[in-house]
Order: sequence, then C-alpha cells, then structure tokens
Amino acid sequence: SGDSTLSITVVGASGDLAKKKIFPALFALYYEDFLPKNFIVYGHARTKLTDEELRDTVSRTLTCRIDKRVIRATNCRENCENKMEEFLKRCFYHSGQYNSEEDFEELDKKLKEKEAGKLAHRLFYLSIPPNLFVDVVKCASLKASSESGWTRVIVEKPFGRDSESSGELTRSLKQYLAEDQIFRIDHYLGKELVENLSVLRFSNLVFEPLWSRNYIRNVQLIFSEDFGTEGRGGYFDNYGIIRDIMQNHLLQILALFAMETPVSLDAEDVRNEKVKVLRSMRPLQLEDVVVGQYKGHSKGSKLYPAYTDDPTVPNGSLTPTFAAAALFIDNARWDGVPFLMKAGKALHTRRAEIRVQFRHVPGNLYKRNFGTDLDKATNELVLRVQPDEAVYLKINNKVPGLGMRLDRSDLNLLYRARYTREIPDAYERLLLDAVEGERRLFIRSDELDAAWSLFTPLLKELEDKKIGPELYPYGSRGPVGAHYLAAKYNVRWGDLG
Ligand code: BG6
Repeated sequence: SGDSTLSITVVGASGDLAKKKIFPALFALYYEDFLPKNFIVYGHARTKLTDEELRDTVSRTLTCRIDKRVIRATNCRENCENKMEEFLKRCFYHSGQYNSEEDFEELDKKLKEKEAGKLAHRLFYLSIPPNLFVDVVKCASLKASSESGWTRVIVEKPFGRDSESSGELTRSLKQYLAEDQIFRIDHYLGKELVENLSVLRFSNLVFEPLWSRNYIRNVQLIFSEDFGTEGRGGYFDNYGIIRDIMQNHLLQILALFAMETPVSLDAEDVRNEKVKVLRSMRPLQLEDVVVGQYKGHSKGSKLYPAYTDDPTVPNGSLTPTFAAAALFIDNARWDGVPFLMKAGKALHTRRAEIRVQFRHVPGNLYKRNFGTDLDKATNELVLRVQPDEAVYLKINNKVPGLGMRLDRSDLNLLYRARYTREIPDAYERLLLDAVEGERRLFIRSDELDAAWSLFTPLLKELEDKKIGPELYPYGSRGPVGAHYLAAKYNVRWGDLG
C-alpha cells in the first residue's frame, strides 16, 4: 500500500549470484509491476562502491523479459529502458563488514531515512558464503530489523554438510530469527515445470488415479550439465554432486512427486506432506549408489580438462562430480517402486527432467507387435524441466497402413510452441513469494533435517571408506555403473533412448 515501504537488502551484492540472478529477478518483478510502490534495493558488501557504481554494475545485468508479442511493439524498447532507469534510481549501496554491528547500525540509519517513518518491511537476501550466515543474521537482526513491519531473511544452500552441521546452523540462526522469518531457497522449486508437477498430477483424471505403485514402475529424476566445475572447484570440492544437487534439488522434486494429496495448497499443508514422504524413505545404502568423476581427454584439437585439473581442486580428490542412486519410499503408495536419481557435471548435455515409467498393460493384446521387449511399449510421462520446457507422454500408436505395425510416439506439449510468454526465472517466483510471505516453496527446518538424515550416513561411509569414483570422460554419458544400478531394479534410464 502507499503507506508502507519495502526494502530488499542484497548482502553480498558484488557476488556472482547477486549479479546473475537476484538483481535481474528484482528488475523483472519491477518491470511487471509486482513490487509494491515504495520499494528500494540496497546492495551491501565489503567492497567500497558508490550508489552510482552499483547502478552501473547492476545495469549491465538487466534484460527485458517480456511477452514475445509485446516485443514486436515499437514502443517496447523505450518503455523497457525507462523502466530500467526507474529501477536503478531505487538501488543504493552500503559498504560494510559482515560481522560488524556498527556497520549494520549504519545501514539501519540509511534505511530509516528512506522509509521516512512509514510502516517498513525489510527483506535481507544473504548472497554470501554460508560461513558468514550467522554473523550477518546476528548483526542484521540486532541492529537492522524493522521496528514497525516484518523482517525476513532469505538464505540459500549449502545448509551445512551433514545432519550435524546443518542442525547447528539452524540452531544458530534460530537464536536470532523465528522459523517464519527464515526463507530457505531451493531454486529448483521456483522452476516452472516443478511448479507444474502438482498441477498435472492433481488436476488431471488421466494421471491422478495412476500415481502409485499399482501403475508406476519407476520414477527417474535426471540432472545433467555439459560443463564441469570451471571456476567453482573450491566450493564444489567441499560438497560434491550428492550434496550439491541430490540432497536438495532432486530430493525436493521427489517429495513433491510422491506426497499424498495435501489438505490444501497452503504452505504448511504442502510441507507437512513433503516431510512425511521424506520420513518414510530409507536412508541411502552404499550398494544403491554409484559415484563418478570426470576425467580429461582430447577430441580433435579440443582439450577437455579433468575435474582434478581445476587448480582450486586438491590433487587426488575423490569428490564425486556424478552420482546415480536408487531410493525407496516405504509407504503404502510407493512400496517397492524404485526412484532413480542421476546427477552429473561435464556430461554430454545440459538437461533436467522427471521421467515416469508406467507398468506394462496386463495381457497386452499387441505383445506380438513389440517382440519380447515389453519395455519398448511402456508409457512414459516426461516433464522436461529445462532446457526447452515440455511435458510429453509416450504412447503406443498404430503406424498407418494396411499392416499392423505399432510404434511409440509422443503426445508433446512443448512450451515454446504452446505459450508465447517468457518463462520466468526461478528467482523471480521465489523473491516474489518471499515478499508476499508465501512459504510453500521454501524449505522448512524439519524438511531440511529429514533430507539430511537420508544422505548423511551414506556420505559418511563414502568418505570414511574413501570410495574412489568411477572415472568418465568429460562430455560422455557418465559411468557405466549407472546402468548396472538401474538394471539391478529392472530399469532402463529413459534418457538413453
Ligand atoms: C546449483 C548448484 O544449486 O544449481 C550448481 O550449486 C548447479 O552446481 C546449479 O550448476 C544448476 O542450476 P540451474 O538452474 O542452472 O539448473
């Protein structure tokens, strides 16, 4: 409303995440009129910068994400540039240490000036390494909390390295903040297709009744990137792919996929169901996991580096850059259904998808037409999260002609063909939700604990036993071990054909 103000303080404003994701997302929200009338953005970091210098850096990261139809309109460019100018005028900078109460007091003064006595809401986005979280939260909550409105803090993984360190971080943060002030981001929950998962399932009669062990043979959650840890080896080596992708992004998707119907779409109802799924799962077993690491090779004149060639990675590191795992949910709905996860860097393609393989049709009349390989005839539902967002369903169809030949074809909902609108970036949705106090897409602390309980014993065992990863060439499809793991459960990875 006109009587209140909102400030968004980006702590760690000169970092990569801030530049690449947060400022552009804030601008996109502003552009589309989602932010309240009186809002300002404060960049906070140690580097000394003027407001103008911050605006200059921020301006280089902004783009116009708009309806494709609007782009054709002649006044669009001008309109966008005007909006950028307006947005930049609302950006300010404060330089300070992350552990200095005086520096946050200083920030508080500057905020108060801008708030001019109105009802003031304050959102802090901690775009900084996790070892600084507690210092910043302490200083911000003691010295820069809003006195009249709400104060919220957004944090992003890593939330510790295991159950113990994560629990410790939660306890430390809760010395200064209430749970409902903490917004833990898992940016995969902000992705359009992940948000669509529940819509597909719960609003389509052709899917909802099939969503169980009675009809689903297995579920596959696949994440691959076609680049290595280039430049992030220092961070990555301390975590590895299991902590970087599986314990959070893929597990969150799994929980959403497998949860029981929530009482409503309210944050607590949905998160209650997600926690139940996580708590019904078996902790991962070493024999159900394959780890890999990419090795260098040359192709023509191009050299592909090994993970361990990264100067920030310690020699002889055993950190996995690839992992495949089979997980099980011991409840009535999912008993015995393997949930297979696969995540890797430096693979042949960049892709994230959810694949649901259905059971064979009992007494299949057309067995003869499929030969002995009934797997070729299973229906498969695929949600391609990225790139080129799509939902498609593999069905069996008769090839036209006088004979009786069947093939598997796709019913294909390709977003770029169906919708003209640009797909918003995950951070846009999540920032807007945080501003609006909508917590459904943020991780509650009991969810985080449950997620860590599943992975901590495995991670400890891998590290204690110094299990060496299976090497795979940069740009390949990953270690063959992943196939054996799937085969053990009678599964074939759907992304391989
Ligand atoms: C981050 C991981 O959480 O997700 C990165 O730390 C990974 O290693 C990134 O590259 C992938 O995100 P996106 O949105 O590009 O798929």
